[in-house]
Amino acid sequence: MKKDFSLKLILLLGLVNAINGDSRTRVVCYYDTRSSSKTGLGKVMPVDIEPALSSCTHLVYGYAGLDATTFKIAPLRTNEELDKTNGLYKQITSLKTKYPNLKILLSVGGDADVDPENEKLFYEKYLALLESSTGKIAFTNSVILILQDYGFDGLDLAFQFPKMKPKKIRSSVGSVWHSFKKTIGVAGKPVDENSEQHKDQFTGLVVELKNSFRLEKYELSVTVLPNVNATLYLDVQSIKNYVDFITMAAFDVVTPIRNPKEADYPAPTLSVSDRNTEENVDAWAAFLVSGGLPSYRVVIGVPSYGRAWKIEADATVTGSPPVQADGPAPEGVQTRTAGLFSYTEMCDKILNTRNKDLKGEYAPLRKIADPTKRYGIYAFRLPDENGDYGMWVGYEDPESAGNKAAFVRGKGFGGIALFDLSLDDVKGACHGTKFPILERIKNKFN
Ligand SMILES: *[C@@H]1O[C@H](CO)[C@@H](O)[C@H](O)[C@H]1NC(C)=O
Repeated sequence: MKKDFSLKLILLLGLVNAINGDSRTRVVCYYDTRSSSKTGLGKVMPVDIEPALSSCTHLVYGYAGLDATTFKIAPLRTNEELDKTNGLYKQITSLKTKYPNLKILLSVGGDADVDPENEKLFYEKYLALLESSTGKIAFTNSVILILQDYGFDGLDLAFQFPKMKPKKIRSSVGSVWHSFKKTIGVAGKPVDENSEQHKDQFTGLVVELKNSFRLEKYELSVTVLPNVNATLYLDVQSIKNYVDFITMAAFDVVTPIRNPKEADYPAPTLSVSDRNTEENVDAWAAFLVSGGLPSYRVVIGVPSYGRAWKIEADATVTGSPPVQADGPAPEGVQTRTAGLFSYTEMCDKILNTRNKDLKGEYAPLRKIADPTKRYGIYAFRLPDENGDYGMWVGYEDPESAGNKAAFVRGKGFGGIALFDLSLDDVKGACHGTKFPILERIKNKFN
């Protein structure tokens, strides 16, 4: 009798949890804390992101790494992060006193775990973790310790799987897309010959983590990073009841580093003709849903930044992509990274009253809107008479991000994740509103 009653109670509590947890749309705000150690305009400290937080349901701390020998979760910047009074971990989790409803997750991986020797992304140690059962236990235990110690509400597994090889460029711009097996590398070798095993082992890790999280009710999310072929590593059917949500980082389909010779839409919502039909928001979400993930657990990642290429004289006057390119555009004042602009920087470059008469490196870019809401927006500037300063940028602004949020809402998906707060307009320099991209996303869900 008693047993029966407690079972019913557990089921009932589970149901209440499910309803509470899933009825609200998620606005998942990533904060890449590497921005806190930058100098100048790109520096974004925890205090700077506070104005954003009333719009977020989740704040995700990016990023922790993985110790290659012990398989424990490992801070990437021990000195700045771990101090119990004023380290970054504590600074972030203490934001909960002001925003008690905010769930704060620690994210591991996120393409931030990079070999300092050669700047290559680590993925071997992530696969080695999957292959080791004792490693999985060590990882899980270390995660629980760190969540407890610093007061996080859960973990985001932004696992660094091997990435697909960049697509082959078309022989000439505008020619028909020729099919090319994405998992097959240049030498004809798959990126990961053991992906089937790794997929099962990843399921094992997710199940183990979630089971160990139950007592403390920690949340667990999985993020599929750009250019990872999710079908190779995600057994959605088997993990769907062990994750609170899965975020598709639905952007960086092309980047100036991976695709230096061809600029194109980096984050389309729907399929674009003559492109791979599997690489857009709609297709990625459909993959999760067809695997049985309830739609309210599908979260779509939206970038706050632009991907920028240098373009040369033979670019067409409409700027219509794909456009032949010559590597990343020169770095800007804020990100100080070639080929990457924050929204504040983009806003400054688009034609406005301040830049309309400027020339050369400061000449304005023309924005091309997307009334179809399929592809996303871009902006470009043709090279000058000497063939210099040509630029093409695929990016997101409040309007295009709002369109994505409306798409997500229309499909009944679980929400949007913004990558990341530090590259939105943190100071409100564009339109006087701080975090205008986030703001528009949130308003679409009201
Ligand atoms: C991902 O891998 C599957 C299975 O090998 C393949 O069919 C699919 O085309 C790949 N997706 C992309 C975008 O390359």
